[in-house]
Amino acid sequence: MSEAKIPYKIYLSEENMPKAWYNLRADMKKKPAPLLNPETLQPVKPEELEKVFCKELVQQELDDQTREIPIPEEIQDFYKMYRPSPVVRAYCLEKKLGTPAKIYYKFEGNNTSGSHKLNSAIAQAYYAKKQGLKGVTTETGAGQWGTALSMACSYFDLDCQVYMVKCSYEQKPFRREVMRTYGASVTPSPSMNTSVGRKILEEHPGTSGSLGCAISEAIEAASSQDGYRYVLGSVLNQVMLHQSVIGLETKAALDQYGVVPDVIIGCAGGGSNLGGLIAPFMGQKLRGEQDYQFIAVEPASCPSLTRGKYAYDYCDTGKVTPLAKMYTLGSGFIPSASHAGGLRYHGMNSTLSELLDQGLIEARSVEQTSVFDAAEQFARIEGILPAPESSHAIRVAIDEALKCKETGEEKTILFGLTGTGYFDLFAYEKFNNGEMSDYIPTDEDLAPGFASLPEVPESHD
Ligand SMILES: Cc1ncc(COP(=O)(O)O)c(C=O)c1O
Repeated sequence: MSEAKIPYKIYLSEENMPKAWYNLRADMKKKPAPLLNPETLQPVKPEELEKVFCKELVQQELDDQTREIPIPEEIQDFYKMYRPSPVVRAYCLEKKLGTPAKIYYKFEGNNTSGSHKLNSAIAQAYYAKKQGLKGVTTETGAGQWGTALSMACSYFDLDCQVYMVKCSYEQKPFRREVMRTYGASVTPSPSMNTSVGRKILEEHPGTSGSLGCAISEAIEAASSQDGYRYVLGSVLNQVMLHQSVIGLETKAALDQYGVVPDVIIGCAGGGSNLGGLIAPFMGQKLRGEQDYQFIAVEPASCPSLTRGKYAYDYCDTGKVTPLAKMYTLGSGFIPSASHAGGLRYHGMNSTLSELLDQGLIEARSVEQTSVFDAAEQFARIEGILPAPESSHAIRVAIDEALKCKETGEEKTILFGLTGTGYFDLFAYEKFNNGEMSDYIPTDEDLAPGFASLPEVPESHD
């Protein structure tokens, strides 16, 4: 199709919206390693997980065979309120950079929660309601997931208890108020509410918290209340499954105009948006239909993919979760207080970890001042104030486009713009005042986290 006919923003029509999520694991010859029970070191059984998670979500978590999982009608209806999200051609950015590359981004910030997190929140709240639960508990890092889950829970009339990483709680009071407006209760983590929180505070007094700590607290809160289950906004395969809606929409939208990306880029915290965006494209690559370059971008301050070990580890700091095989810095690693709260996680989704191990995706780490440089450049020219997490992908998309300028290659670059940064103005203020610093952990800083890795016999490793 001629360039001129490709719209600035590509939307799917309602009838073309995905009716089923795509389970990438079904197309992987070598599957991600199973979750293990930390006591028996045997693969976890559904009934063990069902004590903590909603039943149907457990099935989705463990299912690595079913390629398509139908999206229930209630969820499709909810999606229609804010989906499809647009695939946007960043013409102005291309022009400003003077690159021959074509840059597209899939924008997930067009809902009150401000990010892609709502795609999985509404699914998880739906299954909790269907199971007849009173409510759910969760953690939130940057606040987007907590906000999304409060919206989803209020829609289905469920109680929502959020443990918010302390540094985000302090930096983003307004995000906390959005959650409370939707009826959620919000507690800064680590807190004195749970025994695991008290223990972490005793061991690390004054800690700014981490996603790993908040997960431990939320799990304890769910297990100690009748009619409650724990839900998680990232890391798990069920979350990546729900986020496949991003990639399915993107691929269908681009297919309409015959656009085939060469490079696909996403930021990686626990891996859900990246996993969701790349899923159908990676499926093609695995089936030998089409080749793509996939790049996961993470903060240099929390480099699980680029400097972590591929090993079994706990998903939380308090060591109450099953063991997942993933790229990890060790559940004992507490990253420095960077401004991309949603990327401060010690591990990574097990499917993405396996894909990285097989050399099917690559990973890059970037420093936060260079991320904010890219965020500001993007905001000034494309009219969207990006979230710090999303700006990691922008950084690498710009770097790739500048490489094309040097080589003259006319690559098509696609990246995931996961959310908006209107609640991140404290971080932007630091950047604008020249007060933002970069912290890259030394090998000595990483050593205690690695030392905290559990010992798992070879047969499972
Ligand atoms: C806007 C935004 N993008 C990305 C992420 C990273 O999460 P994930 O890697 O699961 O997509 C977060 C997490 O909080 C987020 O809020």
